[in-house]
Amino acid sequence: MAALSTLPFLHHAEMASTTLICDTQPWKDLKAHVEDIKKTHLRDLMNDKERCEQMMVEFDGMFLDYSRQCATLDTMDKLYKLAEAASLKQQINRMYSGEHINSTENRSVLHVALRAPRDTVINSDGKNVVPDVWNVLDKIKDFTEKVRSGSWVGATGKTLKDVIAIGIGGSFLGPLFVHTALQTDPEAIEFAKGRQLRFLANVDPIDVARNIAGLNPETTLVVVVSKTFTTAETMLNARTLREWISSALGPSAVAKHMVAVSTNLMLVEKFGIDPNNAFAFWDWVGGRYSVCSAVGVLPLSLQYGFSIVEKFLKGASSIDDHFRSAPFEKNIPVLLGLLSIWNVSFLGYPARAILPYSQALEKFAPHIQQVSMESNGKGVSIDGVPLPYEAGEIDFGEPGTNGQHSFYQLIHQGRVIPCDFIGIVKSQQPVYLKGEVVSNHDELMSNFFAQPDALAYGKTAEQLLKENVAQHLIPHKTFSGNRPSLSFLISSLNAYNIGQLLASYEHRVAVEGFVWGINSFDQWGVELGKSLATQVRKQLNASRTKSEPIEGFKFSTTKLLTRYLQASSDVPADLPTLLPRI
Ligand code: F6P
Repeated sequence: MAALSTLPFLHHAEMASTTLICDTQPWKDLKAHVEDIKKTHLRDLMNDKERCEQMMVEFDGMFLDYSRQCATLDTMDKLYKLAEAASLKQQINRMYSGEHINSTENRSVLHVALRAPRDTVINSDGKNVVPDVWNVLDKIKDFTEKVRSGSWVGATGKTLKDVIAIGIGGSFLGPLFVHTALQTDPEAIEFAKGRQLRFLANVDPIDVARNIAGLNPETTLVVVVSKTFTTAETMLNARTLREWISSALGPSAVAKHMVAVSTNLMLVEKFGIDPNNAFAFWDWVGGRYSVCSAVGVLPLSLQYGFSIVEKFLKGASSIDDHFRSAPFEKNIPVLLGLLSIWNVSFLGYPARAILPYSQALEKFAPHIQQVSMESNGKGVSIDGVPLPYEAGEIDFGEPGTNGQHSFYQLIHQGRVIPCDFIGIVKSQQPVYLKGEVVSNHDELMSNFFAQPDALAYGKTAEQLLKENVAQHLIPHKTFSGNRPSLSFLISSLNAYNIGQLLASYEHRVAVEGFVWGINSFDQWGVELGKSLATQVRKQLNASRTKSEPIEGFKFSTTKLLTRYLQASSDVPADLPTLLPRI
């Protein structure tokens, strides 16, 4: 982090005009309060039933227990004061009322409008955007019904039963998460019979090969998903699959086999996709917040039908209302956000593990990684002032029991990593075996209930001595405990609950950003690498086709590039078209 005094480019007056949250009294009070908390242990805090009771909230089938956070009710009061100092309520309202809170891009932030009921009024720049949202949703419903019923067919008259969605980042991770979660939902399964949905994200030709493996272009619909329609990876993949289709079925087949989702309809048309077959969204939808736009709704409706996806939107909308209206003490996203700030900024725990005890949620952590880390991975305040504190957190995760046999060792005895445990009451796919002690889902959930206590209570040397553990092993077998976690218990996992979970985490990230005083809705940090790749791309072309020497790169990069080009000199200068043969 740069010290303020080393930043000559900022005028003194500019800095003075901005109040950072760390300069407020509630922040200072929380800093001082850390000492009180360091004197406590979760073992003792958990004995206080009233405290625990008050650290449990419920809303619409979601139960949150945050009693295993290293926090007291006094901590919570102090966090609510911090929220007040950050004008959290007002900031939430500014988001919902379409103000340009994404100031560096001069945009509203209105993903809540994507799942708002038809009769809602949400304005951006003086215009109610909800009718536009529903025009696109109606268009998706109509188109996907045509494809699914076989009234829209491919160039050779065959039904399009397989879909490849091309997109990366926000144009991929959210839809993949929802698809993976729905894949084993009994209701969704019924609607997906005989259909496949795949995602092509990586520009690696291996991902192309894996995506087209076993598919027939005659029965495949390709959906190109890109907010900007300029993302290098997505556009090369789109050109590659356009070639895959036209080399098999002729160039005119593209009209029947390729559709697009974008905010840039001009570029969609230039690419060769009929604008009638394009599904719009708007610059007030951030890429990582776009799963509820056509970005997710189109591919998911092709796979599961619109009615299932509508339930997903309703689940998200239920949390949107809750987030806007519930008092902070009962507001799940607000509580989640404030506790994250407590862990990161005060207790000094920079990471968070997202641990769903559900295989269906295996792509939840990768999605939240982008939502959280691309949103809050910032070093300056929304006014451009370098932050004297760290913002953002390092998110990672795996379905619970798999994680237990992988990285939990570190979580139990190594570093302290606050954990989110997510459990489902009713399995999508119950399995019972006669004679077993418990059902398979109960077996899974036994771990969900056990792990948070293992982290919180730990195991002392005295306990080990009582168990006659050999003296030399006692340090190795001791668990310090006092490791914070929270537990989410969700009634079931269907389209509706999946929407709720998504919106809870989206708003949690916004809460954190609002309090840290950063812009959670831009992502300038991804640009530098992209522009350097452009220079490398040019060099690779010039070296391969005209044997031009490597110029203008750092010493190490020059060495690496030289080695790469020399070792792959068998790549022909005049490249013929080559598609994967798999
Ligand atoms: O990685 C940067 C990013 O701009 C993300 O924010 C975005 O989700 C992704 O690229 C894809 O962008 P697009 O949808 O414009 O192709």
